[in-house]
Amino acid sequence: MNRKALIGIIIIMTAALIGLLGIQLYWIQSASSVKEASFRRSVNEAMARVVYKLERLEKRRAAEISPFGGMLSFNRHLDYSLFITEHEMDSLISQELNIRGVDTRYQFGIYKPERDLFIMEKSSEHRMQLIQKGYAYPLFSFDMFTTPEYLLIYFPYERQFLLTELWGMLLISIVLIVVIVYTFSYTITILVRQRKLSDMKTDFINNMTHEFKTPISTISLACEALSDKEIPKSESVYDSYIEMISEENSRLSMLSERILHASVLEKGELKMHKKLVNLHTIIRDVIKSIRIQVEIKDGVIYANLRAKPSQLEGDRVHLTNLVFNLLDNANKYTPRKPVIRIRTENSGQGITLKVEDNGSGISKHEQKKIFDKLYRIPTGNIHDVRGFGLGLSYVKAIVEEHKGKINIESEMNKRTIFTIYLPYKIPE
Ligand SMILES: Nc1ncnc2c1ncn2[C@@H]1O[C@H](COP(=O)(O)OP(=O)(O)OP(=O)(O)O)[C@@H](O)[C@H]1O
Ligand SMILES: [Mg+2]
Repeated sequence: MNRKALIGIIIIMTAALIGLLGIQLYWIQSASSVKEASFRRSVNEAMARVVYKLERLEKRRAAEISPFGGMLSFNRHLDYSLFITEHEMDSLISQELNIRGVDTRYQFGIYKPERDLFIMEKSSEHRMQLIQKGYAYPLFSFDMFTTPEYLLIYFPYERQFLLTELWGMLLISIVLIVVIVYTFSYTITILVRQRKLSDMKTDFINNMTHEFKTPISTISLACEALSDKEIPKSESVYDSYIEMISEENSRLSMLSERILHASVLEKGELKMHKKLVNLHTIIRDVIKSIRIQVEIKDGVIYANLRAKPSQLEGDRVHLTNLVFNLLDNANKYTPRKPVIRIRTENSGQGITLKVEDNGSGISKHEQKKIFDKLYRIPTGNIHDVRGFGLGLSYVKAIVEEHKGKINIESEMNKRTIFTIYLPYKIPE
């Protein structure tokens, strides 16, 4: 998938997701308004009932006490306790509210606006809210001789109550949204990772073709020359051609070996032939084989091998490749006059090996990635240094097989130090 298509998909998916979120929010909001309206309706119905009962109660008590109920009506405006107690009023309200499913705390009061006075109230809490935000119902509004009192009711936890009713729906929506966002970002991460991997693989194939091409064409040229009857051939010419062919051939087999290692690593089929080996001998052999390449660049290799004993349990071939990869990198990634220092010393239950160079350095961010297979630090479009990006992933795998540790310290454009610890004996 190309970059544009990937960005296109990310934009479309993000837009769709935002749209979906918007619709979801809209639905939740409409549901909450519906709930609010139905809550209001229930409260109004319940309170209408309370007002009706209250008026009936007053009439009945008035008739009981005096056949001229008008007198009591006059008193009522001062003292409701003549026909209902606070407690009775409270249970009347709560009964009516409960019937209609309104099951949240409330505060009520009978208020006389004319005198700014509460004739009756449940408690003195939330007085201001009761006046400002409470639901109000006029009492005895038929009585034309006096200004009416109001029955006020206020629900301090109205929002929470409505939310609890919506809670199930909200919860499911939140869970679904989280699941969608998570899978979306996971898919994108995988897509991006796949793209990087495919870029790295293309790079790898390009590099590999390049690396294979030179020895193959040298060999075919040498073969052509050998089979050409017109070219006079002495014994020494023969020898030089054959030497050329065998050199290129061994380069080819080394290349295929490295690629093979990578696929063996991938399958997890790395085989170790553990023996007691002398790390110093291995290091000296590798230095011998790599010295010329370093000297071509006017560089030097200093070896300070102080570990004593220098033997440890390990696989000779793999350890040789490990040291080779580190020295090869130190040389390859130092553009001018490499000064490579290799040191060993005993530490704890094993040997520490350090390879230091004065090369391009590796940033902190890249240090985490260089051990990934096929990973090469991007250098724009030109890679003037050849490589497959396999060396360090192999080194790491070998260190892990030997139950050792690998560390890296680096300063950009100054130095890089790879530190490897290998135990004397590989724990089972
Ligand atoms: N000593 C070093 N100094 C600076 N950069 C380094 C050093 N060693 C490794 N790197 C960076 O880490 C990357 C990965 O190294 P690795 O050895 O795995 O691959 P390679 O050298 O590119 O290819 P290969 O080793 O397979 O031929 C390199 O491409 C390089 O950018
Ligand atoms: Mg390398």
